[in-house]
Amino acid sequence: MKALVLAAGKGTRLKPLTNTVPKHLLPVGNKPILFHVLNYIKEAGIKDIGVVVSPESGPYIEEAIGTGSEWGGQITFIAQAEPLGLAHAVKVAQGFLGDSPFLMLLGDNLVQEGVKDFLGEFHTSNSDASILLREVSDPRAFGVAELDSSGKVIHMAEKPKNPKSNLAIIGVYLFTAEIHKAIAQTKPSWRGELEITDAIQKLLEMGKEIRSHLLRGWWLDIGSNDGLIEANRVVLDAFLKRDIKGEADEQSRIVGRVEIGEATKIENSLVQGPVFIAANCRIKNSLVKPFTNIRAGTVICDSCLERSVILENCQILKIKHLANSVIGKNAILAGQGKGPGKIRLFIGDDCKVELE
Ligand code: G1P
Repeated sequence: MKALVLAAGKGTRLKPLTNTVPKHLLPVGNKPILFHVLNYIKEAGIKDIGVVVSPESGPYIEEAIGTGSEWGGQITFIAQAEPLGLAHAVKVAQGFLGDSPFLMLLGDNLVQEGVKDFLGEFHTSNSDASILLREVSDPRAFGVAELDSSGKVIHMAEKPKNPKSNLAIIGVYLFTAEIHKAIAQTKPSWRGELEITDAIQKLLEMGKEIRSHLLRGWWLDIGSNDGLIEANRVVLDAFLKRDIKGEADEQSRIVGRVEIGEATKIENSLVQGPVFIAANCRIKNSLVKPFTNIRAGTVICDSCLERSVILENCQILKIKHLANSVIGKNAILAGQGKGPGKIRLFIGDDCKVELE
């Protein structure tokens, strides 16, 4: 069994952040989104991992993953020159996949329960594919599966105008090598992409059996700024543990589940968990409220932050109340400690915002 992670998407809805960093490397909790996905693969015991990257994302992702020793396996990077669809990504990875069955994951989708049980069920079946499904309120934005009364998949459609069920296909799939034959017969969709949903529908038409597994826990598809903030809320809430490596002075209070990295200094401040603060930060005269994720080297002074993602080496000075925000690397936000009250910002790397 091999694993294929798709990390070539452009992250258009997360611009301007994704002008300079691939969305798969944006942080959720204490690590990049992609590392959570690689952890699922490790937990499932798969050691031969292919990561599909784009020409733009490739160098950043290869540098972040390094040799891949952290995941105890062998990592192969595969370039997808253009974003021509999920089934196209499988096509370009065919040399890596060979005839092996494989687990395919979208590099920006997180699932509460991981993939171990899903994989176990597939091993004991004779199916040529298995998909994870979740009930959603508006299935039109997703691939949608129709099941018969016994729970067997009978039809699949990509972003249908009139969905036949409320079961969205989420970004975790299992395939045997039969999928390559199905992809060879699949035509690009109206959006010009070779859809994996259409290829699975082809498998059905070829008379193959497709299994499904209904996900009951959370599923996070991190495609937008709000998606990134929400993913951080959910993951910090679910997994963060109290672990304080940095220093807090006597005037500070660190309440609840807070992780503070090495060489970070907290001075005269209140930090209310769940909050993650990476290494080499300085938090002074400030209030850091729940669900905030502050990356390495950032300075927060005379400010209040809440439910926000602050990337590396930012300076946030005299900002009265920053909430539900995403701030790119090296950004400077400087206020006067006066109005306006609560502000919400989405800004890219290297920006400077001054409030009168
Ligand atoms: C892709 C798949 C879709 C699936 C979704 C899950 O959509 O094509 O079937 O439901 O991922 O996130 P896209 O993100 O390309 O719109």
